[in-house]
Amino acid sequence: MSTHSPSFPVKTERHGDVLVAIIDNPPVNALGVDVRCGLVAAIDAAEADGAVAAVLIVGAGRNFIAGADIREFGKPPQLPSLPVVCARIENCGKPVVAAIHGAALGGGLEIALAAHYRLAVATAKLGLPEVQLGLLPGAGGTQRAPRLIGAKAALELMLSGRHADAKEALALGLIDRHGEGANALTEGLAYANELIAAKAPMRRTREATALADAAAARAALDAARADTTRKSRGLFSPMKIIDAVEGALTLPFEEGMALERQLFLQCLDSTQRAGLIHAFFAEREVLKAPETKAAKPRPLASAGIVGGGTMGAGIAVAMLDAGMPVTMIERDEPSLARGRQHVEKVYDGRIKKGRMTHEGKAAVMALFSGSTSYDALAQVDIVVEAVFEDMAVKKAVFAELDRVCKPGAVLATNTSYLDIDEIAASVLRPQDVVGLHFFSPANIMKLLEIVVPAKVSADVVATGFELAKKLKKVPVRAGVCDGFIGNRILAVYRQAADHMVEDGASPYQIDEAVRNFGYPMGPFQVADLAGGDIGWATRKRKAASRSPKARYVQVADRLCERGWFGQKTQRGYYLYPESARIGQPDPEVLSIIDTERLRAGVTPRSFTNEEIMRRYMAAMVNEGANVVHQRIALRPLDVDVTFLYGYGFPRHRGGPMQYADTVGLPQVLADIRAFAKEDPLFWQPSPLLVELAERGSNFASLNQSE
Ligand code: 3HC
Ligand code: NAI
Repeated sequence: MSTHSPSFPVKTERHGDVLVAIIDNPPVNALGVDVRCGLVAAIDAAEADGAVAAVLIVGAGRNFIAGADIREFGKPPQLPSLPVVCARIENCGKPVVAAIHGAALGGGLEIALAAHYRLAVATAKLGLPEVQLGLLPGAGGTQRAPRLIGAKAALELMLSGRHADAKEALALGLIDRHGEGANALTEGLAYANELIAAKAPMRRTREATALADAAAARAALDAARADTTRKSRGLFSPMKIIDAVEGALTLPFEEGMALERQLFLQCLDSTQRAGLIHAFFAEREVLKAPETKAAKPRPLASAGIVGGGTMGAGIAVAMLDAGMPVTMIERDEPSLARGRQHVEKVYDGRIKKGRMTHEGKAAVMALFSGSTSYDALAQVDIVVEAVFEDMAVKKAVFAELDRVCKPGAVLATNTSYLDIDEIAASVLRPQDVVGLHFFSPANIMKLLEIVVPAKVSADVVATGFELAKKLKKVPVRAGVCDGFIGNRILAVYRQAADHMVEDGASPYQIDEAVRNFGYPMGPFQVADLAGGDIGWATRKRKAASRSPKARYVQVADRLCERGWFGQKTQRGYYLYPESARIGQPDPEVLSIIDTERLRAGVTPRSFTNEEIMRRYMAAMVNEGANVVHQRIALRPLDVDVTFLYGYGFPRHRGGPMQYADTVGLPQVLADIRAFAKEDPLFWQPSPLLVELAERGSNFASLNQSE
């Protein structure tokens, strides 16, 4: 639409009587200070020019305006502020029209709300997603949107942060017209010219009357408050949104704006805002691995999966959902039939919930085929192996893949812990071997660790990232080590939790403390869900290599010896009578723990929930620092994204490394040194943590893109 000119990102053009202000601030037309100045200048110019009869605001590129420039938050404010820009637009003495395509989000929608007339074309997505960043709409959104579309609809948009398309926006009254054509400029000009011809007035949203039914608005507020109290555990901004909307109901416009500003600044100051914005950028930064910059992905038109168990079936579903034809290999016909059943079960579940039709299932299953012969994989672009976690079995599978797969096929393993360099070394094409570590259930969990062995070629790694994009997963690049990023760190903080159990805290108290911190579940609930047998098998395998000096808590082994593997056996750390999903504390487990304490010669002591979290987080952060120090994770933010998407870490805290920065690294280090007095072998401060703390630095300083 226009050439990029970063310092003058708002260009004006005359089209007849209409002054068109084009916002051209790549990549997404965020409302940085230059855009704000440019918009004010455009309105000034329109008012000063007698020949101009109306103003049209459009965006260049793929979006109208994505919102405030998030990178400016937390920095000294620069004038004019966004509310001032919106007021200038609304007060303009000539009609202002906003013509929207692509994103009109947050401040972008607030600009449109300040305009006198709004049109959107089919690509438009409109929303007030500030809540997802720990904020509230801070440029009049909380005051104008309820006046325009009513409290109920406005609250729903703001509290969910979701996007509405043009059709819905029209139905809500958020826009006045759904443009037929695809081009916002053309549609907007036609609309502006109609308005000029009709001598349309400056219709100001602040005077809109959708709040006239005060009782309905009050009821919507009360319902939103009750719902938010129940749902948004510990989140700060949702309640502030409701408070601000209440202002729209009870205060004159200008006072409502002042209240909104005050509440917006409170949100801006919160660590939750910092955590959520860190998460926003981190989940985009993880895509920028060196290999994705250096190489183009290989084709990904079809896939093979070896092993149709829990993971193989879940991965198959993820691929089928993305429209990829999948060929599953199992060791014999009965296992193959079971693998197919596992896949079908997922779709049957969706049919039961009304989310899929029988025809829909049939269409997806038409992409699925199975075989007991590896020859069926001869033409696939990528194979993901998900057989038993056993090096000999994996090597046998890879020998077959080496034999049958076409040159250039990507050979991936979903191993959780095994040495992928060793697997790669067992074939004649180590450059094609990569780790793709999915999380269970693989069709639901968003995280995909892309594990990079020494000899893999860059385009294979880039293909892993491309696959993640296709499957709508969040990829994190990881190096080869025992457990990669996530499971390696998990093993350490799980041990810290086990130590606390033996020292006097109950698993139930630890789970409660972890939930109060913001996790959906505590570690012992997770263990019961995943099944204790998996960890037990790993512990037995590693028993020989465990240092005899290392503290080893045996409670989990005692439970497994009794066959208490968790939910699937109806008891683990908790009791699950009649296959209940939520467990009940089990007095027998507590007495087993007592016995273990006696055996270990521990005199139990009490822990506060805060003490529990200090140890839990110190263990997590310290191992996170080791993982970065050893380049298993490229940056601290890669650890953060791993935990946000694979382990339920509360998003408003940004991830463990961001959390550590919030606490302060000297404090974390002091904690570890204090804990080390009891167990110096377990609590060894990571060299990276020591270095950063002593330099007065933080993990964020290491987060620059490679
Ligand atoms: N400010 C600064 N940078 C932004 C941005 C914003 N609001 N939105 C996106 N970006 C950046 C991204 O970080 C990314 O940068 P990178 O290329 O260096 O990694 C680049 O723009 C492209 O973003 P995406 O990869 O996300 O591009 P997509 O095309 O996939 O998505 C989008 C586009 C839907 C606009 C998506 O970027 C998005 O949802 N952005 C955030 C929208 C938002 O939350 N707006 C509200 C902001 S808060 C506000 O407005 C407060 C106000 O009420 C006062
Ligand atoms: P599973 O036991 O449910 O399934 C394994 C499947 O592989 C079985 O169906 C079995 O018949 C098949 N199989 C075994 N040998 C085979 C061979 N030679 N050829 C073809 N098929 C063969 O195991 P699960 O849980 O699916 O795990 C598979 C892999 O995924 C393991 O490496 C595991 O470590 C890893 N993983 C597991 C996760 C989990 O939560 N279960 C999470 C992430 C990775």
